[in-house]
Amino acid sequence: MSGITILGTGSYSPEFRLTNAMLESAVDTSDEWITLRTGIKERRIAAADETTLDMASSAAGKALRGIDISQIAVIVAATLTPDYLTPSLACLLQRELGLPERIIAIDVNSACTGFVVALKTAHSLLADAPGKLALVVGCEMLSRVTDYGDRSTCVLFGDGAGAAVIRREPDGVFAFDSGARGGTEYLSCRAGYLGNSPFVVRTADKDCDGIHMNGGEVFRFAVETASASVARVLGLAEVALGSVKRFIFHQANRRIIDAIARRMGIAEEKCFVNIERYGNTSSATCAIALDELLRSGAASRGDGLIMSAFGGGLTYASLYFEINGDLNYD
Ligand code: ACO
Repeated sequence: MSGITILGTGSYSPEFRLTNAMLESAVDTSDEWITLRTGIKERRIAAADETTLDMASSAAGKALRGIDISQIAVIVAATLTPDYLTPSLACLLQRELGLPERIIAIDVNSACTGFVVALKTAHSLLADAPGKLALVVGCEMLSRVTDYGDRSTCVLFGDGAGAAVIRREPDGVFAFDSGARGGTEYLSCRAGYLGNSPFVVRTADKDCDGIHMNGGEVFRFAVETASASVARVLGLAEVALGSVKRFIFHQANRRIIDAIARRMGIAEEKCFVNIERYGNTSSATCAIALDELLRSGAASRGDGLIMSAFGGGLTYASLYFEINGDLNYD
């Protein structure tokens, strides 16, 4: 097996804080309901002139601080809310950050599972570029696709970005597990297209009308699949659950994280949680959490870390790796 070194991380959250109190005045909800059912107190919402690229490049710029950018050979950007269908967010980042041209620059759309899948994708692609680096980004502008008239979803989502720069190492552990149960019935967000061909009249295609979700079904899916996926990844890594130092679960709902931890017997203090401040930022949650965890100094060299996410697709993915290298955030 081959491991990874994380050389840098960064994150970005828009300034505007949409609090539960503000939502109380917009839809039939309450701070008490949102806090009890989700753990969320506020989420960040991008400004009208802010783009997904703005957020992603801000997070990526921090992750790249002090790094020789000529060594970047791979950019993988996870997002379901890119500014353009083409160019990809990864290509826009290549230009914005002045990264090399001889590069693989691709987007991954795996919804909330995106950053975990992007890390795996980057790790695999680096097999062909020994010693080189990958920039991995999770960035989402969910406020663009949230229906603020739907109380069952609008209280959940926020905007934000996180990034990491990684190198594949010949030694070490990097175990991965993933799955998909495709379908639109429990969680979907339709793409918006013109649909104005004068030659073919389409009645089935509609414009994007926001995220639709059956929260209860996604909740059950998340707890069941994340627990099983983490167990499989531990098996692949040949690591005992008790020896894992830190867990980063997708920040969708505090109760989901608690339920997974209870079911698996994971001590609460090992689970990183910041959902109260950001809500669910889909592919950005694990990236922001990784940045905050490493910056806080709460994880150190040699610590085993599990990152596990679930969401649209439906999809799930889990990773186990060891913190390798010394990060300097001064
Ligand atoms: N405020 C007040 N009441 C509400 C609200 C609200 N914001 N939203 C729903 N309710 C009501 C419902 O109408 C329902 O009322 P009823 O009993 O009179 O019918 C009641 O609260 C309970 O609703 P449930 O949907 O059963 O509430 P639940 O405890 O399941 O919580 C939630 C809902 C928070 C959405 C939860 O199911 C959840 O977190 N699911 C998982 C979401 C997730 O993980 N998504 C990840 C992927 S997102 C992506 O990929 C982009």
